[in-house]
This record gives sequence, structure tokens and C-alpha cells, in this order.
Amino acid sequence: MKKELNYIDLIRSRNSTRDYEQHALTDTDRAQIMEAVASAVPLDGLVLLDWKIADRFPMGCSGILYAECGSSDEELANYGYQGEQIVLALLADGWGTCWYYQVRLPGSPCSITVGKPATRRVRSVVMSVLSRGQTRKSMELLVPNGIPEHVSPLVHTVAESARLAPSAMNRQSWSFEVISDTQIVIKGDTGRFPDLGICLANAMVTARQLAGTATVSRLSEGTYSIAW
Ligand SMILES: Cc1cc2nc3c(=O)[nH]c(=O)nc-3n(C[C@H](O)[C@H](O)[C@H](O)COP(=O)(O)O)c2cc1C
Repeated sequence: MKKELNYIDLIRSRNSTRDYEQHALTDTDRAQIMEAVASAVPLDGLVLLDWKIADRFPMGCSGILYAECGSSDEELANYGYQGEQIVLALLADGWGTCWYYQVRLPGSPCSITVGKPATRRVRSVVMSVLSRGQTRKSMELLVPNGIPEHVSPLVHTVAESARLAPSAMNRQSWSFEVISDTQIVIKGDTGRFPDLGICLANAMVTARQLAGTATVSRLSEGTYSIAW
């Protein structure tokens, strides 16, 4: 039976894990990781990617997840969209993860390290401080037109989940526009990172959890609508 995850709590408690226990993946672990992969849905009109576990161990993780993916803005967004859903599903099972641009397997834009979180060591604390990983831009900055006063609380929760999305070097290169009580628009940088798709995933799983359904549509390059 499909697990119902509390994505809102997962998004609020997730952060990049850069320290891992020494742990070789068992067959049960691999099955659990592939179950998380199977829980992800693609962006409308795009394919489900063929995610694989590579036996590579950057930062002492137990393996890395990656998929081959084209480099168009839509394909990159789809990579981030599926990848972040996997990250959240893995977190629900106690796995730590970190998106990792520094490791790119052939045909993939970046990877996701996976492993059992360990006590943080100096190097990862430094990395987190350098990337200012604990910080996020304010909602005021991200919603230039402001959030209308009497808008549904659901809009605030969806926008907050989008705000908390991880991004390469914590750039958070996106902005939001509130269209109505049941729709927001997210605009983001396209380029070499899948960040925009990651942000869309956070918004979509939150809207889906609260409203029971969510539709993500591409309006133009780098601009997507999330409606519920
Ligand atoms: C697409 C992408 C690529 C990233 N690449 C790296 C990387 O190469 N090395 C690294 O230490 N962190 C990397 N990160 C992690 C970010 O630095 C981190 O997500 C950001 O600082 C926010 O911190 P948090 O994930 O702890 O909330 C990457 C994140 C994303 C989304």
C-alpha cells in the first residue's frame, strides 16, 4: 500500500546531510531506496527518469542516486522535480541525502548522495556555513507583489514549502506570484541546475497533501503554475 507522507513536516525538517555512518547498502536498503524512487511523479508531459544507485561514496555516503537526463530547461526541471520527491521520501525512512553537483555521472546533471546520517564533523559544518545552508530569503523578497491579505492559509503553506527548497549554492533563484486562493506561479532561473524543479516539487507535494490534488503546468521557459 502507498505510504501517506507528511511532506510539510519533511520539508521543514530536511537539510543536506554531508556526514554519513559507514554503512554498506543491503538488498533491503536498495529496495527501500527504489521504493522512494517509485513514489516520485514526473512533470506533466515528461518521462519518469530511470534512477539508479551508483556505488560511489562521496562524503562517506552509502551510494548515489542519478539518472540520465537531457539538458533542456524542462528536462532539468523534471530532474529536480523527481529528485526532490525522492529526497523527501528517503528522509521519511531515516535516510540522509545531499544534492551534489560536484559528482556528475555520465548523462546526469548532478547526483543525490544517500546514507545513514552521522554526527556532523567540522568539514560539513564549514560547508554548510559557506553555502549559508541554514538561511533562506524572506518571503517578502520572494513575492515581489506581496501576498494578498485575505488569501487562504493554504497559499502561505505552499509558498513556505517552496521557499524552503534547497538549491545549488543556496542561490534560491526563484520568485513567486499569488494568483488566487488556489494557484501560485513560480518563476526561476533555468541553466545548468535542476533547482526550479526542486522548488516546484516542494510546492506540489504540499498542495497535494493539503488539497488532495495539485496540477503543475509550464507556462513558459522558467515559469510554472501550481494549482489545487
Ligand atoms: C542542484 C544542487 C546541487 C548541489 N551541489 C552541492 C555540491 O556540489 N556540494 C555540496 O556540498 N552541496 C551541494 N548542494 C547542497 C546545497 O548547498 C544546499 O542544498 C543549500 O546550501 C541549502 O542547504 P540545505 O540543503 O541544508 O537546506 C547542492 C544543492 C542542489 C539543489
